[in-house]
Order: sequence, then C-alpha cells, then structure tokens
Amino acid sequence: MKVSDLFDVSGKVAIVTGGSRGIGEMIATGLVTNGVRTYITSRKAEVCDATAAKLGELGECISIPADLSTEDGLEDFVRTFSDREDRLDILVNNAGAAWGAPLGEFPAKGFDKVMNINVKAPFMLTQALLDKLKVGATQDDPARVIMTGSIDGIRVPFGDNFSYSASKAGIHMLARHLAHFVVSENITVNSIAPGPFESQMMAYMLDTEEKRAMVNAMVPRGRIGTPEDAAGVVLFLVSRAGAFITGAVIPLDGGISTHG
Ligand SMILES: NC(=O)c1ccc[n+]([C@@H]2O[C@H](COP(=O)([O-])OP(=O)(O)OC[C@H]3O[C@@H](n4cnc5c(N)ncnc54)[C@H](OP(=O)(O)O)[C@@H]3O)[C@@H](O)[C@H]2O)c1
Repeated sequence: MKVSDLFDVSGKVAIVTGGSRGIGEMIATGLVTNGVRTYITSRKAEVCDATAAKLGELGECISIPADLSTEDGLEDFVRTFSDREDRLDILVNNAGAAWGAPLGEFPAKGFDKVMNINVKAPFMLTQALLDKLKVGATQDDPARVIMTGSIDGIRVPFGDNFSYSASKAGIHMLARHLAHFVVSENITVNSIAPGPFESQMMAYMLDTEEKRAMVNAMVPRGRIGTPEDAAGVVLFLVSRAGAFITGAVIPLDGGISTHG
C-alpha cells in the first residue's frame, strides 16, 4: 500500500496524441518523467520532434508525426508504432480542435473538422490499437484508454463553439460505451474533462492580463489548470491506484462543473 507501489507506472508503453504541446505535452511530461516509454503525435513534424527531443532529456519519448483526422494518417501512425512495439499499455486520445462561429453562420466544415479529430479519430485509433492494448492487459493491471474530453461537454459553454461542446459530450459517452464493451478484455476507458489550461487552443482567452483575470475568476478554485493537475489525474488513472475505475468522466476543472 505504499505510494511508490500504488502509483508506480515505470516500464509501461504509452501513446499521447496531440502530445507536442498544451495539455498533451503536460500529460506526456508526467508519463516520461515516471519511466513510461511515451510516443507523441501531432501534424506539425518539427514541433512534435522538438518536444520529443526536449522530453527525451527526462526519459524515453518518441515522435511519430501524423494527421489523425485522415484515414491514411491514422493507418500510417498505427503501422509505424506497431513496427516498434509489441504492446501498448496506455492510450491517451488527447489531440483535439475547436471552432467558434455565431449561430446562423456556423459553417458545416466547422462541424466536420471538430467531429473528425475530437470523436472519430479517438474511436478509430482505439479500435485500430485494441490488439496491442490486449497484449499486456491483466485483471490486476488493465490497459488504460483515456479520452481528453472537456468541461464544455458537461456544462453549456458561454461561447459559440457549438460543434466543440457536442464533440466533447460525444467523446464522454463514447468512452463509456467503449468501456462497457472492453471491460472483459481487461481494458479500462475513462475521460478527463478539463476546464481552462494554458495552451494554443486557449491562447485567445489568456493573451491579456484582463482576460486571464476573467478566466481565473470563472474558476471556483480561482486559477487555471497546471501541468501538475493534468499529469496528476492521468498518472492516477494509469497506475495501480486507478485500475478499478472505468467508464468515468472526471472533471478536471477547479470546480466549474459545480455550477451545474
Ligand atoms: N486548453 C484547455 O483549456 C482545454 C480545456 C478542455 C479540453 N481541452 C482539450 O484538451 C486537448 C488538448 O488541447 P490543448 O488545449 O492542449 O490544445 P492545443 O495546444 O491546440 O493542442 C492540440 C494538440 O493536438 C494536435 N492535433 C490537432 N489536430 C490534430 C490532428 N488532426 N492530428 C494529430 N494531432 C492533431 C496539435 O498538434 P498539430 O496542430 O501539430 O497537429 C496539438 O499537439 C483537446 O482535446 C482539447 O479539446 C483543452
């Protein structure tokens, strides 16, 4: 029952999609630092390679750039990963995109893009990697799939990001549906639902002191999320401590969801 045993994740193999920056980089940093061989992916190869090189100073981090919103990109990614690894212990489906436009002007492509990367890609990637996830999965130490959802998929957002909130509610439900189907294979599937974190996606809300203060004030805990907050909940979910949890949506939002 020692913390060092309950939370030991060393020797595992992980994929973090969208691991090149933002929340994905925070999660990858937590995994790499704690002895998990971690593959990160994103479209911009130079950024992905640079982040893997940076995290490589903390442990093992490998860059496989890919566009997961296309069938070819997803297949290439799975092939390249499978050539290198026999098994996968942790899959963090984190890559995502947002789109905002006024009601009445919201374009169809703003739905397709967001649904593709936020819902379809996590499903198709999980499906393509199921065999790899089963290899090392046991009742004591199941394989773990984690979706990065959003508080916007739980509570109606203030903004006009209609496809985003729908996609995040969708991925939360999809994770629960998948969890039910793979539980007997010793695979758990959970979602984390972040509130505001520092990232390119959130930059437009945090680029002045006034806006940052407003965002902080919107969070009951009085601040945005940090790398420790993102890495901490994932390390819990993928460790022995989190092995009995599946089908859950965990708000990671400093209390925003307590507003209902
Ligand atoms: N930041 C927040 O406050 C917040 C709150 C709630 C939920 N989230 C969720 O957290 C996740 C990470 O977002 P973030 O805030 O860290 O945003 P971000 O800084 O924009 O990072 C998004 C990541 O996804 C990658 N990506 C985007 N499209 C991709 C594609 N088609 N194929 C492969 N990789 C792709 C990006 O790299 P490339 O552009 O190079 O592809 C990048 O690595 C998302 O699912 C987001 O919805 C964020």
